[in-house]
Amino acid sequence: MGSLATGPADVLSWPPPCSAALLRFLALVCVLVTTCVFIGSYTKFRLKTFHPLRWMGFVKNKCGLLKSCAPNFFAFKINSGAANVVGPSMCFEDKVIMSPVKDNVGRGLNIALVNGSTGTMSKHGYFDMYNGDPKPLEHFLKLIPEGMLVLVASYDDPGSKMNDELRQLFSDLGSTYAKQLGFRDSWVFVGSRDLRSKSPYEEYLKNNPESNKYDGWPELLELEGCVPRKVF
Ligand SMILES: *[C@@H]1O[C@H](CO)[C@@H](O)[C@H](O)[C@H]1NC(C)=O
Repeated sequence: MGSLATGPADVLSWPPPCSAALLRFLALVCVLVTTCVFIGSYTKFRLKTFHPLRWMGFVKNKCGLLKSCAPNFFAFKINSGAANVVGPSMCFEDKVIMSPVKDNVGRGLNIALVNGSTGTMSKHGYFDMYNGDPKPLEHFLKLIPEGMLVLVASYDDPGSKMNDELRQLFSDLGSTYAKQLGFRDSWVFVGSRDLRSKSPYEEYLKNNPESNKYDGWPELLELEGCVPRKVF
């Protein structure tokens, strides 16, 4: 009988002795989760750039890719420009081919042509799409031969001088988004004249005041991967 007695103390002793520690623990978990969500939503692209494995120096792949490319694939990484402040950069087979440090990038569309068999760059240039004349770019695109990889990165404004002819020329290289590219959009792309369908290597962000990361520009874009070598 005595052992079954439950005194009023058992019912009324609230909070039980362990609850203070438990509450503190839950509060800590709550703070950690909130912090992670907060950091995650504000640094989406940074998480890729500063992947823990990259930080710790474990990544030794070409162009800093997280996975190495299979034989007969070329490693590439393209960053668009950030607002009108930091220029774009392109790495191909572990070689930086265009970047602000190399001083060969500029406002508008930055384009590098790489031989799809040998992986060597044969031409590069940038075309001012805000103030420039679209004719030189039309000429440049029309002369691209088959078997050439075309790497493209936007900087500041790639869209103001876009016209139907340019949209078609980029679409012919496998672009999905050239049709809608506009003022201050972010765009990165790898294409080729011999693609039979749309290129799988493309990212696009519309300039949208509601969702822009920077004041007046969307977030910069990063595109990386392995592109198959064209074997004769
Ligand atoms: C790529 O380089 C090879 C070897 O030099 C050459 O035969 C081929 O024509 C080049 N391809 C293009 C598209 O220029």
